Amino acid sequence: MCGIVGYTGEKAALTPVLEGLRRLEYRGYDSAGVALTTTKGEKLFVEKKAGKLANLEAELNDSHDNSHSGIGHTRWATHGGPTDSNAHPHLSNDGKLAVIHNGIIENYLELRAELEKRGHKFTSETDTESVAHLLSDAVTKNGGDLAAAMRAVCNELRGSFTLLAIHSDSPERIVGARRNSPLVVGVGKGENFLASDVSAFISYTKSALELGQDEVVDVTPSGVIVTNLAGKVITPRAYEITWDASAAERGGYPHFMLKEIFEQPKSIADTLLGRFTENSQIAIGELDNLPELLSAERILILACGTAYHAGLIGKYAIETWAKIPVDVELASEFRYRDPVLTKKTVVITISQSGETMDTLMAARHAKSLGAKVISICNTNGSTIPRESDAVIYTHAGPEIAVASTKALITQIIATALIALYIADKNGALKPSEVSGLIEELLALPAKVEQILETAEPLREMSRGFKDATSVLFLGRHVGYPAALEGALKLKELAYMHAEGFAGGELKHGPIALIESGTPVIAIMPPQRSELREKMASNIQEVRARGANVIVIADSETVIPADVHVIRIPVSNQLLQPILAIVPLQIFAYEMAVARGSDVDQPRNLAKSVTVE
Ligand code: G6P
Repeated sequence: MCGIVGYTGEKAALTPVLEGLRRLEYRGYDSAGVALTTTKGEKLFVEKKAGKLANLEAELNDSHDNSHSGIGHTRWATHGGPTDSNAHPHLSNDGKLAVIHNGIIENYLELRAELEKRGHKFTSETDTESVAHLLSDAVTKNGGDLAAAMRAVCNELRGSFTLLAIHSDSPERIVGARRNSPLVVGVGKGENFLASDVSAFISYTKSALELGQDEVVDVTPSGVIVTNLAGKVITPRAYEITWDASAAERGGYPHFMLKEIFEQPKSIADTLLGRFTENSQIAIGELDNLPELLSAERILILACGTAYHAGLIGKYAIETWAKIPVDVELASEFRYRDPVLTKKTVVITISQSGETMDTLMAARHAKSLGAKVISICNTNGSTIPRESDAVIYTHAGPEIAVASTKALITQIIATALIALYIADKNGALKPSEVSGLIEELLALPAKVEQILETAEPLREMSRGFKDATSVLFLGRHVGYPAALEGALKLKELAYMHAEGFAGGELKHGPIALIESGTPVIAIMPPQRSELREKMASNIQEVRARGANVIVIADSETVIPADVHVIRIPVSNQLLQPILAIVPLQIFAYEMAVARGSDVDQPRNLAKSVTVE
């Protein structure tokens, strides 16, 4: 899950390459590097540095105006530590060819042994360097044709990869390849771009080309040629990017995460847009060609990280409204067991990026077992939706902060839409119930807005907890996965111990963790829920043992005395997590800022995990 960018055109390449890397740094920030072609046949210019992009930029004191093609890489380390020598690009021994890579080359040890026997000298511990040496030999064998060499090399590689390569003998050419990892082409006028994600070139062009599995792309300033690994020319799907560069900027906010939290009302509204007919029916044309969904006997949701929590929350709405049993499983666990799926099982994957390797592999596994796969995804044209039988795009816009916020909220919305779609079509809910729930959904943007407008006391209170060593989150029913998400956010951002528990489980162990002053955040079910009193008892139990309790409750729910209270608007209970999670995001954000951690790029994490 590294970030990859390439530019070829009239500009001095270093500028768009560095700009692309800045926008892709969310994908990994253990090291960064660039390679530029100079004069034909001469060695490439290469600079690479461990640490964040700023370290690399500090070394680059020349704008390299005469270099018009180049590649850049920002790394999340897998094979070999985050050092200068392991940073990409990796070079051939003659210094004329450079390669950058996202993914894992699984057979790199065999390749390396073979290459060392042939006299190649290695300077890093990475899997990627083998590709540089292999390619350099293949270029010679293929009469200097870098694209033909790339095809030959890809046929020898196992694993997942996006690769970009440049060679000083063809200084205007960049050749890329992809298998299981992302790569898109940006098409400009007299210039072209390659990147892991369109945000890298959005300020230069909005025209993009999607690349398929096992395709090689040969890019010059005037042309883009895509072939499969056998050399057959392919016509890639072209599409226009619908958002602009400002969506990928911080826009005055100190961090992307805060900006993205505040964008949530719009993200919800955009995801709901066009989903309802005038007579209050659900319109999801994408699902109309999938009759298997309406006759499903079981739905299985597969996802990772925060997206998994969206699935856990969505389960309640699908079961309650559509009356279909739902299981939710971590994609990484599903893939490696022997799951029983019948033709009556429909799988829903949830992924912001559409590139998470575990989710992708789980989706393929499910398809191979005969299940239909629907994907909920935020990234147009990414791999998981491309391979699914149907896709519902969330419209959160680009999410740059590593910790997911607005994407999660829209994923929950998408699961609610699927639940209502089935319930509506199958008659599991009456038309009046469906229209009532549509009203509830449409009211959510304003309710989230209200939470954000009144968040200042919460922000101040959150900072007051900065010296805590551990925070516990309690929830019941849909509040339980919301509690899991609150804990995950705090771990990711503030680097502190945090755990989410089901209220009913408190007495089975977690209560032993409570000491005087332990912060406990409890999500209170609504006043009308039979679980309200149960949660009130849990709150009393932890208070009696000295916990410092914060309760998130809607404005009409009675809460126990002697606790901090955060009020959220009243909503349907199944939609309540959409509101309750917002204060949890703000709590984690403020704790991270107060503790001095890097909010947008937390240590050891990456936004898009394209390795298993
Ligand atoms: C990483 C990110 C999380 C995200 C998860 C799943 O761990 O840091 O924020 O929830 O991947 O990503 P996806 O793109 O599949 O939603």
